[in-house]
Amino acid sequence: MDLKLQGKVALVNGASQGIGFAIAHSLASEGADLLISARKEEALKRAAEQLATVTGREVRTVVGDIRMQDGCNNILAAVQAIGGVDILINNDGAPPLGPALDFDDLRWSRAFEQNLLSVVRMCRGVVPMMEARGGGSIVNITAGTAIQPLPNFGLSVSTWAGVIGLAKTLSIELAPKNIRINTLCPGLFDTPRLDRSDSGAPPDQASNFNLQEVLKTIPLGRKGQPAEIASVATFLASPMASYVTGTTLSVDGGGNRGLF
Ligand SMILES: NC(=O)c1ccc[n+]([C@@H]2O[C@H](COP(=O)([O-])OP(=O)(O)OC[C@H]3O[C@@H](n4cnc5c(N)ncnc54)[C@H](OP(=O)(O)O)[C@@H]3O)[C@@H](O)[C@H]2O)c1
Repeated sequence: MDLKLQGKVALVNGASQGIGFAIAHSLASEGADLLISARKEEALKRAAEQLATVTGREVRTVVGDIRMQDGCNNILAAVQAIGGVDILINNDGAPPLGPALDFDDLRWSRAFEQNLLSVVRMCRGVVPMMEARGGGSIVNITAGTAIQPLPNFGLSVSTWAGVIGLAKTLSIELAPKNIRINTLCPGLFDTPRLDRSDSGAPPDQASNFNLQEVLKTIPLGRKGQPAEIASVATFLASPMASYVTGTTLSVDGGGNRGLF
C-alpha cells in the first residue's frame, strides 16, 4: 500500500532511540523528511545520521527538553524555520514510578508539564503551521496503563488520561482545519526504557512491576518490537487513515482486556 507520505515533513519527538526512533525510521522509509528531537545532542545526531543513511531522506535535529517551556519553544522554532510540518508525533519519556499519594505538588506539576502540557504546547505551536499547509496529522504516544491502570503508574496514568481527553477534544475542534489526531497506548516494547525507570532503578525495583509476570498476561505471549508500533503510528499519520480521528488504540499484543 502506498501510504502517500512522499514529500511530507514530520516532527518526531523523543526520536534518538526506542519507539520514537522506530516511528522516525518508518515515516522516512515511506518517503517523509524528518525533524527529530531529544535532549542528548550526541545520541540525537547519531540517530539522524543513521536514519538519513538508511532511508535517504533529509533528517534535521533539534535539541529540547519537552518538560520545559524553553525546550518546547526550541523545537517549535526549528519547525518554524523549516516552514512547518505535516505530521507531529508526541513522544518522550515518562514521570517517575511510585504510589500516587507519595508524590508532592512539585512532582505532580512536573508530571503534568511533561505528559500533558508538552502535548498542548506542541499542538498549539504546530497546528497553525499545519493549517497553512492545508492540514496534517498528530499521533500521541501514551501507555496501556493510561486506559488500564497499574499500581505505581499514577503520575503517568492521570496525565496521559488527560492527553486522551485533549486528543478527543482536538479531533472535533481541528477537523474543520483538516487536521486529525489519534492516540496510541503501547503495551510492553523492547526498548532501552524497559531496562530502567526515570528514577534510574530497573522498573521491577521502582514499581514492584514484575516483567515476567506481566508477559504471561499478554495473549501474544511476548514484548512488542518498536517496529510493530511504528507501523501503526505511520499508518495513522498517513493520508491513508484520512477518516480516522479521535481514536485511542492499544498496541499491546492483546494485553488490554477492555471491550474498548
Ligand atoms: N517501551 C515500553 O514498553 C513502553 C510502554 C508503554 C509506554 N511507553 C512510553 O512510550 C514512550 C517512549 O518509550 P521508549 O520505550 O521508546 O523510551 P526510550 O527508549 O527511553 O526513548 C525515549 C526517547 O525520548 C527522549 N526523551 C526522554 N525524555 C525526554 C524529554 N524530557 N524531552 C525530550 N525528549 C525526551 C529520549 O532521548 P533523551 O534521553 O536524549 O531526551 C529518547 O529519544 C515513553 O513515553 C514511554 O513511557 C513505553
